[in-house]
Amino acid sequence: MDLIVASNNKGKIAEYKDILTPLGFQVFSQAEKNIAVEVEETGSTFEENAALKARAIYELTKCCVIADDSGLMVEALNGEPGIYSARYKGLPTEHERRMAVLEGLRGADNRNARFVSSICFIDENGVERLFTGTWKGTIAFREEGTNGFGYDPIFISEDADGRTTASMPISFKEQYSHRAKAVKQLVDAIHRLKTP
Ligand code: IMP
Repeated sequence: MDLIVASNNKGKIAEYKDILTPLGFQVFSQAEKNIAVEVEETGSTFEENAALKARAIYELTKCCVIADDSGLMVEALNGEPGIYSARYKGLPTEHERRMAVLEGLRGADNRNARFVSSICFIDENGVERLFTGTWKGTIAFREEGTNGFGYDPIFISEDADGRTTASMPISFKEQYSHRAKAVKQLVDAIHRLKTP
């Protein structure tokens, strides 16, 4: 069965292809299906944004769709950067956005944070399912490490040994991350759907 990943991010699409092809889906990117829309993320939660993106593509194609949305929530910053993680404070680079988080936490006692990932899966009948994974940790005092992307150089997961995620082996995220947890829920649900 065809499944479209509502994204133009090559890394993300490759990841979903690896996971979902063995489950019997033929996975396509938006580009492969000639869908040029860039859906505006106007929701106020990760779940809403994932659903908005998935619905827009479903309405056009009536095909199975997956869309996701994720980001970092910092307690002492009232949950920011949150849904604005990719464009926090309008800053153009990941480094500047990380520095804005560090600056915002200057002098703060509470450095608790969590990553959140929501996935919306719409099946060929239009039935929506949402899956959300979270990953708790704290914000470091400075950037450290070169693995990963985004806020990884300042996030110290509760599952780690005190190093930032960007300093841990890449396989670490595959096991523990917010995205890994949401994807596991998705895969379990698809297995359940296939088993009458
Ligand atoms: P997206 O919704 O997956 O495109 O992610 C939005 C933004 O959240 C990214 O641009 C990153 O800034 C941040 N983010 C999401 N997941 C991660 C992660 O696993 N590590 C670091 N930053 C992340």
